[in-house]
Amino acid sequence: MTGSARQTVVSGARPTGRLHLGNYHGALKNWLRLQQEHDCLFFVADWHALTTDWAESRDIGPSTVEMVLDWLAIGIDPARCTIFQQSAVPAHAELYLLLGMLTPVPWLERNPTYKEQQQQLEGHDLSTFGFLGYPVLQAADVLVYKASAVPVGIDQAPHIELAREIARRFNGTYREIFPEPKTLLTDSPKIVGTDGRKMSKSYGNAVYLTEEPAEIDRKLSRMITDPRRARRTDPGVPEDCPAYTSLHRVYCTPEELRWVEQGCTTAGIGCLECKKTMIKHVLAELEPMRARRAALKPDDARDILQAGNRRARALAEATMAEVRDAMGLA
Ligand code: TRP
Ligand code: SF4
Repeated sequence: MTGSARQTVVSGARPTGRLHLGNYHGALKNWLRLQQEHDCLFFVADWHALTTDWAESRDIGPSTVEMVLDWLAIGIDPARCTIFQQSAVPAHAELYLLLGMLTPVPWLERNPTYKEQQQQLEGHDLSTFGFLGYPVLQAADVLVYKASAVPVGIDQAPHIELAREIARRFNGTYREIFPEPKTLLTDSPKIVGTDGRKMSKSYGNAVYLTEEPAEIDRKLSRMITDPRRARRTDPGVPEDCPAYTSLHRVYCTPEELRWVEQGCTTAGIGCLECKKTMIKHVLAELEPMRARRAALKPDDARDILQAGNRRARALAEATMAEVRDAMGLA
């Protein structure tokens, strides 16, 4: 973001429970930076979880608490930003309904994630109204706070584009209420899991932020490397090593990277020795988070959500009063 003007930044995350390194580098590190400079609202998108997992909703509550505890552990600061739960702010649902009135169905059918996810998420019935309409809910999530900027990954960019189109249509039809939110593309390093695929809870390849150091060390020590290095004496290519291309790159110093490059291509070092250099940095970064997390109780998350929910409700209500008035509903 350029300039120093304070902006209203809104972003949400589905309640996935404990966070892993992929979540951290993908979104949360960016949130930590944004909370220093802007008015941030970060929320648990629990209604969004229902758009795909409506039949398996029992874990949403516990996962919400777990995720918020991890947010606090990494340093998302309730004194600097508003942390809340989507379903505790009914205005999201009201605005979703009203924006739905003016959103053409073809805009939703054209949404790239719509067809993609219907094909990818097997075992989910995604032929629902809620799934088709979920970008409208996402638009309501940000417009209800008059967000000026929304940090998201590239996969979510079309949804924010749609939010701008919906805002434009609303403003043009009634009156100018909603600023068009900017997309703050999080250009994050892609973190892969221990098996070399994208790090994901569902792949069982994730390293969690607040697990025991010994467990993190064990997982990363076994992380797959360049298959050329089947034997210690076989040279390898760092570019073809999942550990190197995602984690070494993020965590090691330039000198260490040169040492790896040299040692890997000449078989001068072993993979375990090489990974230990990276693991040391991962553990050092995560240790303070683990310590903070250990000192937190579920009630801490509940208290912070309660205060944040109250703040969010007041902000959202103010927008809704304007919206109702503009639409002739006041
Ligand atoms: N749809 C986002 C996801 O699946 C989560 C989300 C919901 C969101 N509402 C939002 C993100 C508003 C940014 C702004 O990851
Ligand atoms: Fe990867 Fe390092 Fe092994 Fe090379 S030596 S394959 S960079 S872990």
